[in-house]
Amino acid sequence: MRRKIVVGNWKMNNTIAESEILASEVLAALGENFSGCEVGIAPTFLALEAAGRVIDGSEIQLVAQNCHYENDGAYTGEVSARMLNAAGCASVIIGHSERRQYFGETNATVNLRVKKALSEGLNVILCVGETLAERESGVTDAVVSSQVHEGLTGISDISSIVIAYEPVWAIGTGKTASSAQAEEVHFLIRTIITELYGDIAAEALRIQYGGSVKPSNAAELFAMPNIDGGLIGGASLNATDFAAIVKAASH
Ligand code: 13P
Repeated sequence: MRRKIVVGNWKMNNTIAESEILASEVLAALGENFSGCEVGIAPTFLALEAAGRVIDGSEIQLVAQNCHYENDGAYTGEVSARMLNAAGCASVIIGHSERRQYFGETNATVNLRVKKALSEGLNVILCVGETLAERESGVTDAVVSSQVHEGLTGISDISSIVIAYEPVWAIGTGKTASSAQAEEVHFLIRTIITELYGDIAAEALRIQYGGSVKPSNAAELFAMPNIDGGLIGGASLNATDFAAIVKAASH
């Protein structure tokens, strides 16, 4: 039985002080009620340390939103996996559609980042998902399949990887994929993983859904056989809503 995993991706929101407040609110709202579920928060780079201090000693994990594929050097504006590890991060989100859409990331650079994060001992949340135009032109399966194949090229052990399926058209739009639509793609991802890594690894892999997850739709999504939790954007900025989503995954 896979343990569900819910992570709040705070994106480019909250100052350091605001992040500390939200982290304390999340801690208070969750209480001891999430034993069935792994939980993480992903503040901006700038607020990682401060938020990390707030959740220190709790079971909430500190997650970063991206990392570079070199350890250090002349890469203005970037942060390396080694630095994230030293800052107390357990995990890093890689290949988010906003990184692909606005910052030119490709499957190849995503793959380099995944490899570097793993080699630095971080867990990875690898994001995949199709745009609305891709869904409407019937290439969802092909797009997701190449994101999974190319994102994982050269990686032989996926035990520290979680895949997040986030259809781009459902992110921040209030338009959630129906649980059946999401399940179909989650099943496809697990099938690809079975082909690449075998049954045992595929059965163990957690696949999160992301895209307008809210307290009102979380339970239905998390009840699907191949949906193992959520990557939460907007609703993770409200501690009460985030806690309600975690609770839905903890049953
Ligand atoms: P929303 O929950 O705001 O749709 O964002 C999802 C997401 O992109 C999480 O990474």
